Amino acid sequence: MQLFHPSLNSIARLLVFALPLSGAGTGVGLAIVYRSGYITGQGEVIDQPVPFSHLHHVSQLGIDCRFCHTGVETSSFAGVPPTKTCMQCHQQMWVGSEMLNPIRESYRANKPIKWERVNNAPDYVYFNHSIHIGKGVGCVSCHGQLDKMPLTFQSKSLLMEWCLDCHRAPEKHLRPLDKVTSMVWKASDVVNAETGKPYTQEELGAKLKKEHNVRDSKVITSCSMCHR
Ligand code: HEC
Ligand code: HEC
Ligand code: HEC
Ligand code: HEC
Ligand code: HEC
Repeated sequence: MQLFHPSLNSIARLLVFALPLSGAGTGVGLAIVYRSGYITGQGEVIDQPVPFSHLHHVSQLGIDCRFCHTGVETSSFAGVPPTKTCMQCHQQMWVGSEMLNPIRESYRANKPIKWERVNNAPDYVYFNHSIHIGKGVGCVSCHGQLDKMPLTFQSKSLLMEWCLDCHRAPEKHLRPLDKVTSMVWKASDVVNAETGKPYTQEELGAKLKKEHNVRDSKVITSCSMCHR
């Protein structure tokens, strides 16, 4: 039997040597392990009490993200919906479905469902949804095509390099504020009134960067932005 995932063998060996060296060794070891996709959790489906499908609810039923993730525009947390949000529909729909037993039980007993975390940044990192949404960064830039996921998984590494990549050139990702939850929007949907041609992401992003008052990259890549 193999104790480690094959790609972890060399990392595990490194860890064994790095750890005893000093207190800082722990940091080095952790940093190396964090780099492995196996450890970041990227692409991995998490078992949930109910197999909730974004594909069904977002893409086929057309429900906006904010109907369920109500905190996303106003607070640091997007939040996961309470059972009563599901029951607004499921009191009438799919009432015989066994898949929904835990939802009905939670409603009856007035006990919240224990949804497992999918995306998780370490505690020493400061992250805030509302600032990103308020500056025109779409959910899809950080969470991928939820509208195509029958089961939810973490789409990006969430590593520091990934955050910094965007903070160095946010114009590659900015969109109009009323399109932040769209999973299909693209810059070329917007016509540049001056040229009569569809925008490229770079052109529109640069314009939106000014309009949304996005600060200089030097400011938003400084360590104290995310490590407070
Ligand atoms: C009908 C309600 C509903 C809608 C609409 C909905 N979600 Fe969700 N979402 C959930 C539930 C329930 C979970 C927890 C279960 C899971 O992870 O699948 C969840 C989980 C997530 C997660 C993972 C949470 C974590 O722990 O990291 C992300 C990211 C997410 N949703 C993004 C979106 C985005 C983006 C949209 C719009 C495109 C959206 N959701 C629309 C109900 C909804
Ligand atoms: C706006 C109405 C609405 C809301 C709110 C809603 N659902 Fe649904 N849900 C539906 C409909 C309609 C279907 C049937 C979809 C189909 O058959 O294509 C469905 C199907 C399902 C199914 C079974 C089908 C499948 O494969 O996904 C599950 C499980 C489910 N919903 C869970 C949830 C949970 C959990 C919540 C709350 C986080 C929720 N739903 C909120 C309308 C809703
Ligand atoms: C700039 C990147 C970014 C954008 C944009 C973004 N998210 Fe997130 N999201 C994250 C990160 C990072 C986490 C993990 C946060 C943590 O662990 O503290 C997360 C966590 C979540 C969670 C888990 C619960 C929570 O609040 O931590 C949900 C649900 C979620 N996001 C939904 C959304 C929705 C819906 C949108 C769009 C309206 C969105 N996110 C936009 C990066 C982003
Ligand atoms: C796709 C682009 C993108 C990604 C990915 C991204 N950010 Fe940002 N972030 C932005 C933009 C745009 C701003 C707004 C800058 C401004 O207001 O000047 C911002 C602002 C911030 C701020 C400033 C908040 C404040 O109160 O001023 C923090 C903190 C932050 N991001 C943390 C993170 C972390 C941590 C990650 C990775 C887990 C991350 N961001 C990933 C685009 C991104
Ligand atoms: C845009 C947000 C952001 C900025 C700016 C940022 N970090 Fe990070 N940092 C993160 C995130 C997210 C993690 C956790 C994920 C990981 O380990 O990559 C992290 C992890 C770390 C770690 C522990 C793991 C590792 O990669 O070594 C150290 C040390 C660190 N950051 C130092 C710094 C320093 C020094 C700066 C300034 C030069 C800085 N960070 C700027 C987001 C940021």
